[in-house]
Amino acid sequence: MDMSTSIGDQKDSEDELHDTIEIEGDIDPSFDIPNQSRILIKSNDQSYLTHGIHKFPAKFFPELPRYLVRKYSRFGDIVLDPMCGSGTVVLEAMLNDRIGIGIDIDPIARLITKVKTTPLEPNMLTTSAQALLEQIHTLDARVDYNPQIPEFHYRDKWFRSFVLRELAIIHDSIEILLLRNMDSPEWRRINQFFRVILSSIVRDMSNADPHCTRTVLRKNVVKTILVGDTYTRFSETLLHQCSSMSEFYEVAKSLSIKDIRLPRGTALDTGLDDESIDLALTSPPYINAVDYTRTHQLEMYWLGFFDDGPLSQVKRKYIGTETVYKTEYSDLKISGFETLDPILEKIFNQDPRRSFIVYKFFEDMKLQLDEMYRVLKPGSRYCIAIGNNLIRGVEVPSDKILSEVATSAIGFELERCFFSKLIRHFIRIPRPERMMGEWILVLKK
Ligand SMILES: C[S@@+](CC[C@H](N)C(=O)[O-])C[C@H]1O[C@@H](n2cnc3c(N)ncnc32)[C@H](O)[C@@H]1O
Repeated sequence: MDMSTSIGDQKDSEDELHDTIEIEGDIDPSFDIPNQSRILIKSNDQSYLTHGIHKFPAKFFPELPRYLVRKYSRFGDIVLDPMCGSGTVVLEAMLNDRIGIGIDIDPIARLITKVKTTPLEPNMLTTSAQALLEQIHTLDARVDYNPQIPEFHYRDKWFRSFVLRELAIIHDSIEILLLRNMDSPEWRRINQFFRVILSSIVRDMSNADPHCTRTVLRKNVVKTILVGDTYTRFSETLLHQCSSMSEFYEVAKSLSIKDIRLPRGTALDTGLDDESIDLALTSPPYINAVDYTRTHQLEMYWLGFFDDGPLSQVKRKYIGTETVYKTEYSDLKISGFETLDPILEKIFNQDPRRSFIVYKFFEDMKLQLDEMYRVLKPGSRYCIAIGNNLIRGVEVPSDKILSEVATSAIGFELERCFFSKLIRHFIRIPRPERMMGEWILVLKK
C-alpha cells in the first residue's frame, strides 16, 4: 500500500488538490481512514478473477469493499449487499472467507452475481466452450437455418440484420447444448456462464452509443460492425473469461467457506431474519443518474427477462426511479429532515417532478435503512457509498441527508465518513463530476 499526499492535477478544483490520501492497490484493514478525509484508490484489480465478467454502471472497484469487509467483519461472518449490482461485494466476501448474501431487483444483476461467484471446473468448462463454438459454427453453416430472434421494440434499429442472426445463433446454440445436458447440474451452471458472456457483448454489437450508460441511438454515432464480428467477439470473450474462471476455480479451492446466498427480495424487504447479519455494505443507485432497466434493456431482451409485466411497473420498484405520476408531484412534499427540505423546495420551484424524484429516493432509503437496522446484529456496521448530485442546478448532499436520516430517524450512529475519489469509466458524465467520487458512510447499530 502506498499512501502519499496527492499533488493532484491542475485542472482539479482547489478542494480536490489538498489532503488526498492516495492508495495504490489494497488498503491494509488495520489502517483507519481518517474521519472526513479524502482518499483516491488506484485500482489494480478491476478484472481480478471473475470481477471483470460483465460491465455494470457504478460498479465498485474491488479494493474498497475488500477493505471494508476485512475491517468490519471476521472469518465466517455474514456480509450482505442489499443492492448488489454485479456482485463485487459478494465475491469479495467469498474471497475473504465470509458468507456473502446478495440481493438485487435487477435480473441481470442477479445472474451476473451468481455466475461471478460460482467456480466452474476448468476441464469441463473448456470442453463445453469448445462444444459451444462448434455448435455455433454448425448452425451458421446451415443457410436454411432460421434462428429464434426475439421480438422487441425498434429491434431492427438497435441491431443490423446480420448481427441479429449471429446473436440468435449464439443464443440458440447455448440452449441446444443445455437441452442435451439437462440432467447435469454442472451443465446448468455452465449454461448461466455462457448466458452472461452473451449478455456482455450485446451492447457492443448493437448500434447504441457505446459511450453512454443509457441505451441510446445517436445519428452521428455509426459503428463499424462487419459480418462475423459478433462471432469473433463472442469467442474471444468466451475464451478470455474461461481463463479467468479457471483462475477463480483454483483460488476457490483453498477457501474454507463457499457459501453464497442470493435470496429473492428487495433492498426494502429482504426477507432475512432479525439480527442475522454481521456487516451490510452497498452502493445504492445515484438519484437521477442511471435508469437500470433502460441501461440493460437490450441484454434483457436477449436473455428473455422482460416477462414480468410492463416496463414502467418494473421500473417503479427501483430505488431512485424516475417513473413517477403527475398526481404524486402536484404539491411540494416535505420530509421533515432539515438537510433535505430546503433542497426539495428549491428544486420544486424549477421542476416539481424532479423534486418528487429526490423526495421519493430518500423516503425509499429511509425504509431501506430501517430494514438494515432490523437485520443487523447490535454493534455491527452498515457501510454505504453514496455520491452527491446536482439536480436542476441545486446541489443535493446525499451524504449529509442520509446521515441525518440514519441517525435521527433510524437510530444508527455515524461512526466515520470519508470521501473516495474514483474515476468511473462506464458512466459518461462531465469530468468534474467523474472525479468527484462518493462518500462512504460507516453507520453503527
Ligand atoms: C450502483 S448499483 C450497485 C453496483 C454494485 N456495487 C457493483 O459493484 O456492481 C445499484 C443497484 O441497486 C439495485 N436496486 C435498485 N433498487 C433496488 C431495490 N429496491 N432492491 C434491490 N436492489 C435495487 C439496482 O438494480 C442496481 O443493481
